[in-house]
Amino acid sequence: MSEDLKREAAARAIEDVRPGMRLGLGTGSTARHFVDLLGSKVAQGLEVICVPTSEVTARQAESLGIPLSDLDRLGRLDLTVDGADELDADLNLIKGGGGALLREKIVAAASDAMIVIADSTKVVEALGRFPLPIEVNRFGLGATRHAVDAVIKAHGAEGGLKLRGEDKGEVFLTDGGHLILDAFFGRISQPEALSRDLLDIPGVVQHGLFLNMCSKAYVAAPDGVKTLL
Ligand code: 5RP
Repeated sequence: MSEDLKREAAARAIEDVRPGMRLGLGTGSTARHFVDLLGSKVAQGLEVICVPTSEVTARQAESLGIPLSDLDRLGRLDLTVDGADELDADLNLIKGGGGALLREKIVAAASDAMIVIADSTKVVEALGRFPLPIEVNRFGLGATRHAVDAVIKAHGAEGGLKLRGEDKGEVFLTDGGHLILDAFFGRISQPEALSRDLLDIPGVVQHGLFLNMCSKAYVAAPDGVKTLL
């Protein structure tokens, strides 16, 4: 059921793809459906050039024969289509549940438009129910963790901080070789201020708050796909 909804949202985003577009390809189970559908279009002759946001997406796209490039060569993109862990009514997002937030944010920021595809369970009244992923450099982890903890507490995080993978005895590494701290808020009341405060910490590489980046969302529910603008 949920996979069907994800695919329906992805199918709507495919309708926004035009021949010749330079596209950013997202990461995650919803973006995976988009890449699948795009692969079918490419097989039918659609010409696009794409920049993947993770090694996983790159491998999927390659296996489908989707032409890939990078931002060094293309500089700017027309459109990025990606999933999200949460989105609010202003189309602000939490992303990074799959650990690809840094490349996802770089690619989205280099795009003229960003479309989010999601099922309706991802829509929230206020961001923060989903743990906020914070990508950090491995060097100085102890000090960075301490500083991040102070910032999230000052912003009302109820549940503290976890190093991703630590509980499974296998620390998660991003494609860029960084670590992820997941911050358990419950509710983020001042996302802009939180974003600034986190980015002020030298060991923080990026965080999963995508503010004012998404231009449109296709949200699939059992009664149909809604467009949020
Ligand atoms: C990966 C992401 C994903 O877009 C996000 O986690 C949503 O994934 P899914 O579509 O599997 O729910 O940000 O870093």
